Amino acid sequence: MSETTPNGYIKRWWKEAVVYQVYPRSFYDSNGDGIGDLRGVLEKLDHIKGLGVDVIWLSPHFDSPNADNGYDIRDYRKVGAEFGTMQDFDDLLAAIKTAGMKLIIDLVVNHTSDEHQWFVESRSSRENPKRDYYIWSDKKPNDWTSIFGGPAWTQGEDGDWYLHLFDRKQPDLNWDNPAVRKEVYDLMRFWLDKGVDGFRMDVIPFISKDKTLPNLPEDLRAKPQYVYANGPHVHDYLHEMNREVLSQYDVMTVGEAFGVTLQDTPKLIDERRQELDMIFQFAAVEVDRGPDGRWKPWTLLEFKAVFIRQDQALDTHCWPTFFLSNHDNPRIVSRFGDDSPQWREKSAMLLATLTLTMKGTPFIYQGDEMGLTNRNFTDIDQFNDLWTKNAWQEEVGSGKWSAEAFFANQNKVSRDHARMPLPWTAEGGFTTGQPWFALNPNFTEINAESGRAIYDHYARLIALRHAEPALVYGDYQDIAPDHPQVFAFKSTLGKTAFLIVLNFSGQPVDFDLPDTTPCLGNYRDAPTYLRPWEARVYRIK
Ligand code: NOJ
Ligand code: CA
Repeated sequence: MSETTPNGYIKRWWKEAVVYQVYPRSFYDSNGDGIGDLRGVLEKLDHIKGLGVDVIWLSPHFDSPNADNGYDIRDYRKVGAEFGTMQDFDDLLAAIKTAGMKLIIDLVVNHTSDEHQWFVESRSSRENPKRDYYIWSDKKPNDWTSIFGGPAWTQGEDGDWYLHLFDRKQPDLNWDNPAVRKEVYDLMRFWLDKGVDGFRMDVIPFISKDKTLPNLPEDLRAKPQYVYANGPHVHDYLHEMNREVLSQYDVMTVGEAFGVTLQDTPKLIDERRQELDMIFQFAAVEVDRGPDGRWKPWTLLEFKAVFIRQDQALDTHCWPTFFLSNHDNPRIVSRFGDDSPQWREKSAMLLATLTLTMKGTPFIYQGDEMGLTNRNFTDIDQFNDLWTKNAWQEEVGSGKWSAEAFFANQNKVSRDHARMPLPWTAEGGFTTGQPWFALNPNFTEINAESGRAIYDHYARLIALRHAEPALVYGDYQDIAPDHPQVFAFKSTLGKTAFLIVLNFSGQPVDFDLPDTTPCLGNYRDAPTYLRPWEARVYRIK
Protein backbone atom coordinates (compact mmCIF):
# COMPACT_ATOMS: atom_id res chain seq x y z
CA MET A 1 0.00 0.00 0.00
CA SER A 2 1.33 3.42 -0.84
CA GLU A 3 1.32 6.07 1.79
CA THR A 4 -0.68 9.25 1.36
CA THR A 5 0.33 12.68 2.68
CA PRO A 6 -2.04 14.60 4.99
CA ASN A 7 -3.05 16.75 2.01
CA GLY A 8 -3.79 13.81 -0.26
CA TYR A 9 -0.74 13.08 -2.40
CA ILE A 10 0.27 9.49 -2.92
CA LYS A 11 3.94 9.31 -1.95
CA ARG A 12 6.34 8.25 -4.69
CA TRP A 13 10.13 8.18 -4.80
CA TRP A 14 10.25 10.36 -7.88
CA LYS A 15 8.11 13.02 -6.25
CA GLU A 16 10.74 13.31 -3.51
CA ALA A 17 13.71 13.15 -5.86
CA VAL A 18 15.97 15.97 -7.01
CA VAL A 19 17.19 15.55 -10.58
CA TYR A 20 20.44 16.79 -12.10
CA GLN A 21 20.71 17.04 -15.89
CA VAL A 22 23.92 16.10 -17.64
CA TYR A 23 24.50 17.25 -21.21
CA PRO A 24 27.32 14.76 -21.81
CA ARG A 25 29.02 16.54 -24.70
CA SER A 26 29.79 19.49 -22.42
CA PHE A 27 30.18 17.85 -19.04
CA TYR A 28 33.73 16.51 -18.88
CA ASP A 29 36.12 15.08 -21.47
CA SER A 30 38.04 12.08 -20.15
CA ASN A 31 40.22 11.31 -23.19
CA GLY A 32 41.33 14.65 -24.57
CA ASP A 33 39.40 14.55 -27.86
CA GLY A 34 37.57 17.71 -26.83
CA ILE A 35 34.15 16.08 -26.44
CA GLY A 36 32.60 15.29 -23.09
CA ASP A 37 31.93 11.58 -22.67
CA LEU A 38 30.50 8.89 -20.40
CA ARG A 39 33.84 8.20 -18.65
CA GLY A 40 33.92 11.94 -18.01
CA VAL A 41 30.60 11.72 -16.17
CA LEU A 42 31.93 8.77 -14.21
CA GLU A 43 35.09 10.62 -13.25
CA LYS A 44 33.08 13.58 -11.97
CA LEU A 45 30.35 11.56 -10.28
CA ASP A 46 31.44 12.80 -6.85
CA HIS A 47 30.60 16.33 -7.94
CA ILE A 48 27.02 15.26 -8.67
CA LYS A 49 26.72 12.96 -5.68
CA GLY A 50 28.07 15.68 -3.41
CA LEU A 51 25.06 17.85 -4.18
CA GLY A 52 22.84 15.15 -2.71
CA VAL A 53 20.75 14.68 -5.85
CA ASP A 54 18.86 11.44 -6.36
CA VAL A 55 18.56 11.10 -10.10
CA ILE A 56 20.73 11.95 -13.09
CA TRP A 57 19.04 12.75 -16.40
CA LEU A 58 21.47 12.07 -19.20
CA SER A 59 20.80 13.95 -22.45
CA PRO A 60 21.13 11.73 -25.57
CA HIS A 61 24.16 9.47 -25.51
CA PHE A 62 23.19 7.50 -28.63
CA ASP A 63 24.76 7.07 -32.02
CA SER A 64 23.90 10.21 -33.99
CA PRO A 65 25.22 12.35 -36.83
CA ASN A 66 24.65 15.26 -34.41
CA ALA A 67 22.73 17.62 -36.64
CA ASP A 68 20.95 18.57 -33.40
CA ASN A 69 23.61 17.38 -30.94
CA GLY A 70 22.22 13.93 -30.42
CA TYR A 71 18.50 14.73 -30.60
CA ASP A 72 18.70 13.07 -34.02
CA ILE A 73 19.29 9.39 -33.30
CA ARG A 74 20.78 7.03 -35.86
CA ASP A 75 20.80 3.92 -33.67
CA TYR A 76 18.82 3.69 -30.44
CA ARG A 77 20.78 0.71 -29.19
CA LYS A 78 24.24 2.07 -29.73
CA VAL A 79 26.30 4.53 -27.69
CA GLY A 80 27.63 7.44 -29.74
CA ALA A 81 31.30 6.73 -30.53
CA GLU A 82 32.29 10.17 -29.22
CA PHE A 83 30.73 9.27 -25.85
CA GLY A 84 32.38 5.86 -25.50
CA THR A 85 31.10 2.31 -25.63
CA MET A 86 28.24 0.28 -24.21
CA GLN A 87 30.70 -0.94 -21.61
CA ASP A 88 31.26 2.67 -20.55
CA PHE A 89 27.50 3.10 -20.27
CA ASP A 90 27.15 -0.03 -18.17
CA ASP A 91 30.02 1.07 -15.94
CA LEU A 92 28.49 4.50 -15.49
CA LEU A 93 25.09 3.04 -14.67
CA ALA A 94 26.66 0.68 -12.13
CA ALA A 95 28.61 3.52 -10.52
CA ILE A 96 25.48 5.67 -10.29
CA LYS A 97 23.65 2.83 -8.55
CA THR A 98 26.56 2.20 -6.20
CA ALA A 99 26.48 5.88 -5.30
CA GLY A 100 22.81 5.44 -4.38
CA MET A 101 21.47 7.42 -7.31
CA LYS A 102 19.29 6.58 -10.29
CA LEU A 103 19.62 7.28 -13.99
CA ILE A 104 17.04 8.38 -16.51
CA ILE A 105 17.87 8.71 -20.18
CA ASP A 106 16.45 10.73 -23.04
CA LEU A 107 13.81 9.06 -25.16
CA VAL A 108 13.73 10.84 -28.51
CA VAL A 109 11.04 9.07 -30.49
CA ASN A 110 8.95 11.76 -32.11
CA HIS A 111 11.59 11.64 -34.83
CA THR A 112 14.80 9.84 -35.73
CA SER A 113 17.84 10.95 -37.67
CA ASP A 114 17.45 10.79 -41.44
CA GLU A 115 20.46 8.46 -41.21
CA HIS A 116 18.56 5.93 -39.11
CA GLN A 117 18.26 2.63 -40.98
CA TRP A 118 14.46 2.91 -40.90
CA PHE A 119 14.54 6.18 -42.77
CA VAL A 120 17.25 5.05 -45.16
CA GLU A 121 14.90 2.22 -46.14
CA SER A 122 11.76 4.33 -45.97
CA ARG A 123 13.05 6.92 -48.39
CA SER A 124 14.45 4.30 -50.78
CA SER A 125 11.11 3.56 -52.48
CA ARG A 126 7.36 3.89 -52.15
CA GLU A 127 7.08 0.11 -51.92
CA ASN A 128 9.63 -0.35 -49.15
CA PRO A 129 8.12 -2.08 -46.09
CA LYS A 130 9.45 0.76 -43.93
CA ARG A 131 7.85 3.46 -46.11
CA ASP A 132 5.04 3.81 -43.61
CA TYR A 133 7.40 4.25 -40.64
CA TYR A 134 7.46 7.96 -41.55
CA ILE A 135 4.92 10.43 -42.86
CA TRP A 136 5.03 10.85 -46.64
CA SER A 137 2.85 12.73 -49.07
CA ASP A 138 2.94 12.92 -52.86
CA LYS A 139 2.53 16.68 -52.70
CA LYS A 140 3.35 19.28 -50.10
CA PRO A 141 0.12 18.92 -48.16
CA ASN A 142 0.00 21.99 -45.92
CA ASP A 143 1.82 25.03 -44.60
CA TRP A 144 3.25 23.49 -41.43
CA THR A 145 6.56 24.97 -40.39
CA SER A 146 9.49 23.42 -38.63
CA ILE A 147 10.12 24.56 -35.06
CA PHE A 148 13.64 25.36 -36.24
CA GLY A 149 12.33 27.54 -39.10
CA GLY A 150 11.33 26.95 -42.71
CA PRO A 151 8.79 24.43 -44.03
CA ALA A 152 8.16 21.18 -42.15
CA TRP A 153 8.12 19.22 -45.43
CA THR A 154 11.13 18.20 -47.49
CA GLN A 155 11.15 16.31 -50.77
CA GLY A 156 12.81 12.91 -50.98
CA GLU A 157 14.58 11.54 -54.04
CA ASP A 158 11.41 10.09 -55.56
CA GLY A 159 9.60 13.41 -55.35
CA ASP A 160 7.43 12.62 -52.32
CA TRP A 161 7.53 14.87 -49.25
CA TYR A 162 8.30 13.78 -45.70
CA LEU A 163 7.31 15.56 -42.50
CA HIS A 164 9.86 16.92 -40.04
CA LEU A 165 8.61 19.15 -37.24
CA PHE A 166 12.27 19.93 -36.45
CA ASP A 167 15.24 19.87 -38.82
CA ARG A 168 15.07 18.14 -42.20
CA LYS A 169 17.57 15.69 -40.73
CA GLN A 170 14.95 14.75 -38.11
CA PRO A 171 12.07 13.04 -39.96
CA ASP A 172 8.96 12.43 -37.82
CA LEU A 173 8.01 8.83 -37.09
CA ASN A 174 4.52 7.67 -38.01
CA TRP A 175 3.05 6.62 -34.67
CA ASP A 176 -0.19 5.57 -36.32
CA ASN A 177 1.72 2.57 -37.64
CA PRO A 178 1.55 -0.14 -34.92
CA ALA A 179 4.92 -1.51 -36.10
CA VAL A 180 6.54 1.82 -35.17
CA ARG A 181 5.00 1.78 -31.72
CA LYS A 182 6.21 -1.75 -31.20
CA GLU A 183 9.76 -0.74 -32.21
CA VAL A 184 9.67 2.09 -29.69
CA TYR A 185 8.38 -0.12 -26.89
CA ASP A 186 11.11 -2.65 -27.68
CA LEU A 187 13.89 -0.10 -27.49
CA MET A 188 12.46 1.25 -24.23
CA ARG A 189 12.60 -2.29 -22.79
CA PHE A 190 16.15 -2.66 -24.03
CA TRP A 191 17.30 0.22 -21.79
CA LEU A 192 14.96 -0.53 -18.90
CA ASP A 193 16.22 -4.10 -18.79
CA LYS A 194 19.72 -2.72 -18.38
CA GLY A 195 18.45 -1.01 -15.25
CA VAL A 196 17.80 2.58 -16.24
CA ASP A 197 15.19 4.19 -14.01
CA GLY A 198 13.06 5.96 -16.55
CA PHE A 199 12.95 8.47 -19.33
CA ARG A 200 12.80 12.12 -20.11
CA MET A 201 10.69 12.11 -23.24
CA ASP A 202 11.58 14.56 -25.94
CA VAL A 203 8.61 16.56 -27.41
CA ILE A 204 6.42 13.59 -26.60
CA PRO A 205 3.08 15.38 -27.18
CA PHE A 206 3.99 15.75 -30.87
CA ILE A 207 3.82 12.01 -31.62
CA SER A 208 0.27 11.94 -32.98
CA LYS A 209 -0.40 13.92 -36.17
CA ASP A 210 -3.73 15.10 -37.50
CA LYS A 211 -3.62 13.19 -40.78
CA THR A 212 -6.15 15.47 -42.41
CA LEU A 213 -3.14 17.80 -42.38
CA PRO A 214 -4.99 21.13 -42.16
CA ASN A 215 -3.09 24.41 -42.53
CA LEU A 216 -1.99 26.21 -39.37
CA PRO A 217 -4.64 28.49 -37.93
CA GLU A 218 -3.66 32.14 -38.39
CA ASP A 219 -3.30 32.82 -34.64
CA LEU A 220 -0.89 29.94 -34.11
CA ARG A 221 1.40 30.49 -37.08
CA ALA A 222 4.16 31.81 -34.81
CA LYS A 223 3.55 29.06 -32.21
CA PRO A 224 2.78 25.89 -34.18
CA GLN A 225 3.77 23.75 -31.20
CA TYR A 226 0.25 24.33 -29.85
CA VAL A 227 -1.07 22.60 -32.96
CA TYR A 228 1.52 19.82 -33.06
CA ALA A 229 1.00 18.92 -29.41
CA ASN A 230 -2.69 18.27 -29.92
CA GLY A 231 -2.87 15.38 -32.33
CA PRO A 232 -5.89 13.07 -32.08
CA HIS A 233 -4.20 10.00 -30.54
CA VAL A 234 -1.49 11.32 -28.25
CA HIS A 235 -3.29 10.08 -25.13
CA ASP A 236 -4.13 6.71 -26.65
CA TYR A 237 -0.50 6.11 -27.52
CA LEU A 238 0.86 7.25 -24.16
CA HIS A 239 -1.65 5.11 -22.35
CA GLU A 240 -0.67 2.16 -24.51
CA MET A 241 3.03 2.82 -23.83
CA ASN A 242 2.29 2.91 -20.13
CA ARG A 243 0.38 -0.36 -20.25
CA GLU A 244 2.83 -2.18 -22.53
CA VAL A 245 6.08 -0.96 -20.98
CA LEU A 246 6.19 1.56 -18.15
CA SER A 247 3.76 -0.15 -15.80
CA GLN A 248 6.01 -3.24 -15.84
CA TYR A 249 8.90 -1.38 -14.18
CA ASP A 250 9.36 0.91 -11.16
CA VAL A 251 10.49 3.93 -13.14
CA MET A 252 9.80 7.62 -13.58
CA THR A 253 8.80 9.49 -16.70
CA VAL A 254 8.90 13.17 -17.47
CA GLY A 255 7.58 14.40 -20.79
CA GLU A 256 8.80 17.55 -22.44
CA ALA A 257 5.41 19.16 -22.93
CA PHE A 258 6.32 21.77 -25.50
CA GLY A 259 3.02 23.21 -26.77
CA VAL A 260 0.87 21.97 -23.86
CA THR A 261 -1.15 24.55 -21.92
CA LEU A 262 -1.57 24.46 -18.16
CA GLN A 263 -5.22 23.56 -18.71
CA ASP A 264 -4.27 20.53 -20.79
CA THR A 265 -1.53 19.36 -18.42
CA PRO A 266 -3.72 17.03 -16.33
CA LYS A 267 -4.60 15.01 -19.42
CA LEU A 268 -0.98 13.90 -19.58
CA ILE A 269 -0.15 13.44 -15.91
CA ASP A 270 -3.31 12.74 -13.93
CA GLU A 271 -2.21 9.47 -12.31
CA ARG A 272 -5.62 7.88 -12.85
CA ARG A 273 -5.09 8.14 -16.62
CA GLN A 274 -1.83 6.14 -16.55
CA GLU A 275 0.10 8.08 -19.15
CA LEU A 276 3.13 10.02 -17.84
CA ASP A 277 4.27 10.72 -14.27
CA MET A 278 5.30 14.31 -14.89
CA ILE A 279 5.83 16.84 -17.61
CA PHE A 280 7.93 19.93 -18.11
CA GLN A 281 5.47 22.78 -18.37
CA PHE A 282 6.86 25.74 -20.33
CA ALA A 283 4.78 28.58 -18.81
CA ALA A 284 7.50 29.82 -16.43
CA VAL A 285 10.35 29.81 -18.96
CA GLU A 286 8.12 31.54 -21.49
CA VAL A 287 7.66 34.68 -19.37
CA ASP A 288 10.43 36.42 -21.26
CA ARG A 289 9.19 35.44 -24.72
CA GLY A 290 6.83 37.56 -26.81
CA PRO A 291 4.07 36.21 -29.06
CA ASP A 292 6.65 35.78 -31.84
CA GLY A 293 8.98 33.80 -29.60
CA ARG A 294 11.52 36.60 -29.32
CA TRP A 295 12.85 37.93 -26.05
CA LYS A 296 10.81 40.45 -24.12
CA PRO A 297 11.38 41.89 -20.65
CA TRP A 298 9.61 39.95 -17.90
CA THR A 299 8.23 40.98 -14.53
CA LEU A 300 8.20 39.16 -11.23
CA LEU A 301 4.42 39.58 -11.14
CA GLU A 302 3.94 37.59 -14.36
CA PHE A 303 6.43 35.01 -13.19
CA LYS A 304 4.71 34.46 -9.85
CA ALA A 305 1.30 34.34 -11.53
CA VAL A 306 2.42 31.22 -13.42
CA PHE A 307 2.77 29.26 -10.19
CA ILE A 308 -0.56 30.43 -8.86
CA ARG A 309 -2.20 29.32 -12.10
CA GLN A 310 -0.32 26.04 -12.01
CA ASP A 311 -1.46 25.39 -8.49
CA GLN A 312 -5.06 25.96 -9.53
CA ALA A 313 -4.74 23.79 -12.62
CA LEU A 314 -3.30 20.74 -10.85
CA ASP A 315 -5.01 18.77 -8.11
CA THR A 316 -3.44 16.07 -5.95
CA HIS A 317 -3.66 13.53 -8.79
CA CYS A 318 -1.15 15.59 -10.77
CA TRP A 319 2.46 16.10 -9.81
CA PRO A 320 4.38 19.15 -11.10
CA THR A 321 8.04 19.62 -11.93
CA PHE A 322 10.08 22.72 -11.32
CA PHE A 323 12.85 23.84 -13.67
CA LEU A 324 14.26 27.16 -14.79
CA SER A 325 16.84 25.87 -17.19
CA ASN A 326 18.09 22.99 -19.29
CA HIS A 327 20.13 22.58 -22.49
CA ASP A 328 17.50 24.57 -24.43
CA ASN A 329 17.54 27.65 -22.25
CA PRO A 330 19.91 30.44 -21.33
CA ARG A 331 21.67 30.45 -17.96
CA ILE A 332 19.45 31.16 -14.95
CA VAL A 333 21.55 33.86 -13.26
CA SER A 334 21.68 35.87 -16.47
CA ARG A 335 18.00 35.38 -17.11
CA PHE A 336 16.19 35.47 -13.78
CA GLY A 337 18.94 36.77 -11.51
CA ASP A 338 21.70 39.32 -11.87
CA ASP A 339 24.95 38.19 -13.46
CA SER A 340 26.93 41.30 -12.50
CA PRO A 341 30.00 40.56 -10.35
CA GLN A 342 28.26 42.16 -7.38
CA TRP A 343 25.13 40.03 -7.31
CA ARG A 344 25.88 36.93 -9.33
CA GLU A 345 26.57 34.67 -6.38
CA LYS A 346 23.67 35.87 -4.25
CA SER A 347 21.19 35.68 -7.09
CA ALA A 348 22.41 32.19 -8.09
CA MET A 349 21.75 31.12 -4.49
CA LEU A 350 18.34 32.76 -4.51
CA LEU A 351 17.35 30.88 -7.67
CA ALA A 352 18.60 27.65 -6.11
CA THR A 353 16.42 28.38 -3.09
CA LEU A 354 13.37 28.84 -5.28
CA THR A 355 14.08 25.68 -7.28
CA LEU A 356 14.53 23.53 -4.21
CA THR A 357 11.67 24.77 -2.04
CA MET A 358 8.84 24.72 -4.57
CA LYS A 359 6.35 21.92 -4.79
CA GLY A 360 7.16 19.56 -7.64
CA THR A 361 10.20 17.54 -8.61
CA PRO A 362 13.10 19.97 -9.14
CA PHE A 363 15.45 19.69 -12.11
CA ILE A 364 18.89 21.30 -11.90
CA TYR A 365 20.90 21.83 -15.07
CA GLN A 366 24.66 21.20 -15.06
CA GLY A 367 26.64 24.33 -14.29
CA ASP A 368 23.85 26.20 -12.54
CA GLU A 369 25.41 24.95 -9.30
CA MET A 370 28.61 26.75 -10.40
CA GLY A 371 26.77 30.01 -11.06
CA LEU A 372 27.54 29.98 -14.80
CA THR A 373 26.33 32.88 -16.92
CA ASN A 374 25.42 33.60 -20.52
CA ARG A 375 28.19 34.85 -22.79
CA ASN A 376 28.16 37.77 -25.19
CA PHE A 377 28.06 36.39 -28.73
CA THR A 378 29.13 38.86 -31.38
CA ASP A 379 29.62 36.71 -34.47
CA ILE A 380 27.49 34.01 -36.09
CA ASP A 381 30.54 31.74 -36.22
CA GLN A 382 30.64 31.69 -32.43
CA PHE A 383 27.37 29.73 -32.36
CA ASN A 384 26.90 25.99 -32.69
CA ASP A 385 23.11 25.57 -32.55
CA LEU A 386 21.43 24.85 -35.88
CA TRP A 387 18.35 26.73 -34.69
CA THR A 388 20.39 29.92 -34.35
CA LYS A 389 22.10 29.30 -37.68
CA ASN A 390 18.77 28.80 -39.44
CA ALA A 391 17.44 31.95 -37.82
CA TRP A 392 20.49 33.88 -39.05
CA GLN A 393 19.70 32.87 -42.63
CA GLU A 394 16.01 33.57 -42.27
CA GLU A 395 16.21 36.82 -40.36
CA VAL A 396 19.47 38.49 -41.25
CA GLY A 397 20.11 36.79 -44.61
CA SER A 398 16.71 37.96 -45.83
CA GLY A 399 17.29 41.51 -44.60
CA LYS A 400 14.37 41.32 -42.13
CA TRP A 401 16.67 41.98 -39.17
CA SER A 402 19.95 43.78 -38.65
CA ALA A 403 22.84 41.68 -37.35
CA GLU A 404 22.80 43.87 -34.26
CA ALA A 405 19.16 43.14 -33.49
CA PHE A 406 19.80 39.46 -34.16
CA PHE A 407 22.66 39.25 -31.65
CA ALA A 408 20.74 41.28 -29.08
CA ASN A 409 17.97 38.68 -29.21
CA GLN A 410 20.23 35.61 -29.37
CA ASN A 411 22.27 36.85 -26.45
CA LYS A 412 19.05 36.58 -24.45
CA VAL A 413 17.55 33.38 -25.85
CA SER A 414 20.23 31.21 -27.47
CA ARG A 415 20.45 27.59 -26.43
CA ASP A 416 24.23 27.80 -26.79
CA HIS A 417 24.56 29.68 -23.49
CA ALA A 418 23.80 26.42 -21.71
CA ARG A 419 25.78 24.21 -24.06
CA MET A 420 29.28 25.58 -23.56
CA PRO A 421 31.59 23.05 -21.91
CA LEU A 422 31.73 23.22 -18.12
CA PRO A 423 34.61 25.21 -16.66
CA TRP A 424 35.93 22.97 -13.90
CA THR A 425 38.89 25.19 -13.02
CA ALA A 426 40.29 28.66 -13.69
CA GLU A 427 42.28 27.07 -16.54
CA GLY A 428 39.10 25.66 -18.08
CA GLY A 429 39.64 22.10 -16.97
CA PHE A 430 37.07 20.59 -19.34
CA THR A 431 39.54 18.92 -21.69
CA THR A 432 43.24 18.58 -22.28
CA GLY A 433 42.55 18.99 -26.01
CA GLN A 434 40.59 21.41 -28.16
CA PRO A 435 37.03 21.73 -26.83
CA TRP A 436 34.32 20.89 -29.40
CA PHE A 437 32.73 24.24 -28.57
CA ALA A 438 34.45 27.23 -26.97
CA LEU A 439 34.07 27.69 -23.23
CA ASN A 440 32.51 30.90 -22.01
CA PRO A 441 35.48 33.33 -22.07
CA ASN A 442 34.72 34.22 -18.44
CA PHE A 443 35.86 30.75 -17.26
CA THR A 444 38.95 32.20 -15.59
CA GLU A 445 36.64 33.89 -13.07
CA ILE A 446 33.50 31.80 -13.19
CA ASN A 447 34.09 28.08 -12.73
CA ALA A 448 33.40 25.14 -10.43
CA GLU A 449 36.14 26.20 -7.99
CA SER A 450 35.11 29.83 -7.67
CA GLY A 451 31.48 28.72 -7.51
CA ARG A 452 32.00 26.53 -4.46
CA ALA A 453 29.78 28.63 -2.19
CA ILE A 454 26.90 28.29 -4.66
CA TYR A 455 27.45 24.54 -4.86
CA ASP A 456 27.41 24.28 -1.06
CA HIS A 457 24.19 26.26 -0.97
CA TYR A 458 22.56 23.79 -3.38
CA ALA A 459 23.76 20.92 -1.20
CA ARG A 460 22.30 22.50 1.95
CA LEU A 461 18.97 23.12 0.26
CA ILE A 462 18.77 19.58 -1.07
CA ALA A 463 19.51 18.17 2.38
CA LEU A 464 16.78 20.35 3.87
CA ARG A 465 14.29 19.30 1.18
CA HIS A 466 15.05 15.65 1.82
CA ALA A 467 14.51 16.10 5.54
CA GLU A 468 11.25 18.02 5.26
CA PRO A 469 8.28 16.50 3.45
CA ALA A 470 6.51 19.88 3.73
CA LEU A 471 9.00 21.29 1.22
CA VAL A 472 8.08 18.54 -1.21
CA TYR A 473 4.35 17.96 -0.78
CA GLY A 474 3.22 21.10 1.05
CA ASP A 475 0.24 23.19 -0.02
CA TYR A 476 1.43 26.19 -1.95
CA GLN A 477 0.36 29.67 -0.98
CA ASP A 478 1.80 32.83 -2.48
CA ILE A 479 1.48 35.35 0.37
CA ALA A 480 2.46 38.44 -1.63
CA PRO A 481 1.32 37.89 -5.23
CA ASP A 482 1.21 41.65 -5.90
CA HIS A 483 4.62 42.51 -4.51
CA PRO A 484 6.77 43.63 -7.44
CA GLN A 485 10.10 42.73 -5.80
CA VAL A 486 9.51 39.91 -3.34
CA PHE A 487 8.48 36.33 -4.05
CA ALA A 488 7.15 34.97 -0.75
CA PHE A 489 5.25 31.73 -0.33
CA LYS A 490 4.24 29.21 2.28
CA SER A 491 4.39 25.48 2.02
CA THR A 492 2.19 23.70 4.53
CA LEU A 493 1.83 20.02 5.26
CA GLY A 494 -0.11 18.82 8.28
CA LYS A 495 1.40 20.48 11.32
CA THR A 496 4.50 21.77 9.53
CA ALA A 497 4.87 24.95 7.52
CA PHE A 498 7.69 26.81 5.82
CA LEU A 499 7.89 30.37 4.62
CA ILE A 500 10.23 31.16 1.76
CA VAL A 501 11.10 34.80 1.12
CA LEU A 502 13.08 35.89 -1.91
CA ASN A 503 14.11 39.43 -2.81
CA PHE A 504 14.25 39.35 -6.59
CA SER A 505 16.10 42.64 -6.93
CA GLY A 506 19.32 44.51 -6.39
CA GLN A 507 17.59 46.87 -3.93
CA PRO A 508 17.04 46.30 -0.21
CA VAL A 509 13.38 45.97 0.69
CA ASP A 510 11.20 46.10 3.79
CA PHE A 511 9.08 43.03 4.23
CA ASP A 512 7.12 41.63 7.14
CA LEU A 513 9.40 38.83 8.34
CA PRO A 514 9.10 36.32 11.18
CA ASP A 515 11.23 37.26 14.20
CA THR A 516 12.74 33.79 14.39
CA THR A 517 16.04 32.70 12.86
CA PRO A 518 15.72 31.33 9.32
CA CYS A 519 16.78 27.71 8.90
CA LEU A 520 18.60 28.61 5.70
CA GLY A 521 19.63 31.76 3.91
CA ASN A 522 22.18 33.18 1.51
CA TYR A 523 23.54 35.81 3.92
CA ARG A 524 25.19 35.14 7.27
CA ASP A 525 22.75 36.96 9.52
CA ALA A 526 19.12 38.02 9.23
CA PRO A 527 18.24 41.65 9.92
CA THR A 528 14.63 42.88 9.83
CA TYR A 529 14.72 43.76 6.14
CA LEU A 530 15.89 41.92 3.02
CA ARG A 531 19.16 42.77 1.31
CA PRO A 532 19.65 42.55 -2.47
CA TRP A 533 18.90 39.05 -3.80
CA GLU A 534 18.43 37.78 -0.28
CA ALA A 535 16.76 34.40 0.11
CA ARG A 536 15.51 32.97 3.40
CA VAL A 537 13.73 29.81 4.40
CA TYR A 538 11.85 29.92 7.71
CA ARG A 539 10.21 27.09 9.51
CA ILE A 540 7.07 28.76 10.85
CA LYS A 541 5.22 25.76 12.32
C1 NOJ B 1 13.66 19.20 -27.48
C2 NOJ B 1 15.09 19.06 -27.08
O1 NOJ B 1 15.23 19.41 -25.74
C3 NOJ B 1 15.86 19.95 -28.01
O2 NOJ B 1 17.19 20.10 -27.61
C4 NOJ B 1 15.75 19.37 -29.40
O3 NOJ B 1 16.37 20.24 -30.31
C5 NOJ B 1 14.29 19.19 -29.81
N1 NOJ B 1 13.48 18.64 -28.77
C6 NOJ B 1 14.19 18.26 -30.99
O4 NOJ B 1 14.52 16.96 -30.60
CA1 CA C 1 36.04 12.67 -25.03
